[in-house]
Amino acid sequence: MIAEAKINDLNEIYKMGEKLHQNYRKTNKLEDLLNTNYFKILIYKENDIIKGFLSFSVTEDIIDIYDIYVKEEYRQSHIASILLDYMISNSKINQKIMLEVEEDNIKAINLYQKFNFNIINTRKKYYHGKDAYIMERVNNSE
Ligand SMILES: CC(C)(COP(=O)(O)OP(=O)(O)OC[C@H]1O[C@@H](n2cnc3c(N)ncnc32)[C@H](O)[C@@H]1OP(=O)(O)O)[C@@H](O)C(=O)NCCC(=O)NCCS
Repeated sequence: MIAEAKINDLNEIYKMGEKLHQNYRKTNKLEDLLNTNYFKILIYKENDIIKGFLSFSVTEDIIDIYDIYVKEEYRQSHIASILLDYMISNSKINQKIMLEVEEDNIKAINLYQKFNFNIINTRKKYYHGKDAYIMERVNNSE
């Protein structure tokens, strides 16, 4: 099931975040962010196990995806798709959804393209000297 993360879930989210970015715990003060009205973390939980999460910020016009992560042993069983689908279904018409992804992260790029995100620009030498794509999806009524 999908739920919004609560304080008690943060330790598990930090552990997953650290697999994504070494300094995740230091650079993301999730306790503070969860207290804002613009930042959200969705978790996918089954049998009390958090299997993946999706974090993003929301303004009137733009949703910015920060991170999406699924634990290795649960990948390719559509958990990321379910998380994204949930976020998109709760977004507003004409809200843009934006993200940055390393140019060689084929799994993630495939995932985003499956949800009709398009590459709109490239940030040069963004991740450890690697280029990153900026991808965008406009939430119209398709
Ligand atoms: C990218 C990631 C979130 C995908 O999670 P997942 O739950 O395995 O994804 P899903 O099962 O929902 O797959 C959805 C689509 O993603 C793409 N995809 C997923 N795994 C893939 C793989 N191993 N190879 C190629 N494409 C893949 C496919 O298009 C897939 O659609 P399909 O099932 O119709 O083929 C997961 O691999 C992950 O956590 N990776 C490490 C973190 C990361 O890179 N996050 C993105 C940072 S921007």
